[in-house]
Amino acid sequence: MQLKCGTYAHPEGSDAQDAETQKKRDVLANDVFIRRTEWAGHLAGMASEEMDTPYQIAGQHPRGKYLLVFDPLDGSSNIDVNMTVGSIFSVLRSPKELEDMPREQQRDVVEADFLQAGSTQVAAGYALYGPSTMLVLTVGTGVHGFTLDPTLGEFMLTHPAMQVPADTQEFAINASNARFWEAPVKRYVDECLAGKPGPRGKDFNMRWIASMVAEAHRILMRGGVFLYPRDTKDASKPGRLRLLYEANPIGMVMEQAGGRASTGEKPMLDVQPSSLHQRIGLVFGSRNEVERIERYHAEPVQTNLHNPLFAERSLFRD
Ligand code: F6P
Ligand code: MN
Repeated sequence: MQLKCGTYAHPEGSDAQDAETQKKRDVLANDVFIRRTEWAGHLAGMASEEMDTPYQIAGQHPRGKYLLVFDPLDGSSNIDVNMTVGSIFSVLRSPKELEDMPREQQRDVVEADFLQAGSTQVAAGYALYGPSTMLVLTVGTGVHGFTLDPTLGEFMLTHPAMQVPADTQEFAINASNARFWEAPVKRYVDECLAGKPGPRGKDFNMRWIASMVAEAHRILMRGGVFLYPRDTKDASKPGRLRLLYEANPIGMVMEQAGGRASTGEKPMLDVQPSSLHQRIGLVFGSRNEVERIERYHAEPVQTNLHNPLFAERSLFRD
């Protein structure tokens, strides 16, 4: 197994709060994913946040039709303080040429095999290690939540057909990045903060756990909108979160639950990936809020906010 090195701290554990620093438990969780899945004959290969390059199924195991892509422990800056973290996964079909070939003639999986738009995912979901352990899963026919019964060691279907409410009064964003936000994001957040007397005409609540999978679960349970938008903080990073194992699986869950996931400009699941560890701006949650944020991105930057004809609740807006 190849593990990240270089810019990543050694995996002996770290008390750094930076969610990007590889922790001992990130490495352990990655290893558990591999050990629990590679022998079963379903997978042709795997890719994960914790491995620089695709993982090859060991020679003694049969290979299958699917590729597993995962973030073994999301929100890992929360580990040291015993707060909620989770595992995110996405299942893709492996290339047809590999499926049709006998095991001994199959080539290794390569990065390009994983560069499939989110709309091609055959399954996605996450496990959440909160007050109770849950598995939330979609295979393209809605989203279903299972809760671990620790006495039986079984996941029970406790939340069938989960739905994200279309409207919300709750948003999640790391406000310490406000000075780096682009104008449409600034506008959206300013309008939420303006509350009842502002253009939205209602008060908003704000939450930030710094564990995207936990925020996604809260939004699935009671609505809300999450933003980790592209910003100007670091020109080498077009967004913070990763397309293949964070944005796409959570995007599929949201869309399957009647919510929406977007880059801010277009549906997340339409994005053609260009690299395994690609970062992207991510907005997801209650459909009407995500559509509003997309609208703000599509509209020309407002210079006439003082003009009541163009205000949010004027004749010129729906
Ligand atoms: O995987 C990255 C991650 O840990 C997400 O789970 C979370 O939303 C984000 O980073 C937190 O970022 P920040 O440290 O900027 O709040
Ligand atoms: Mn993560």
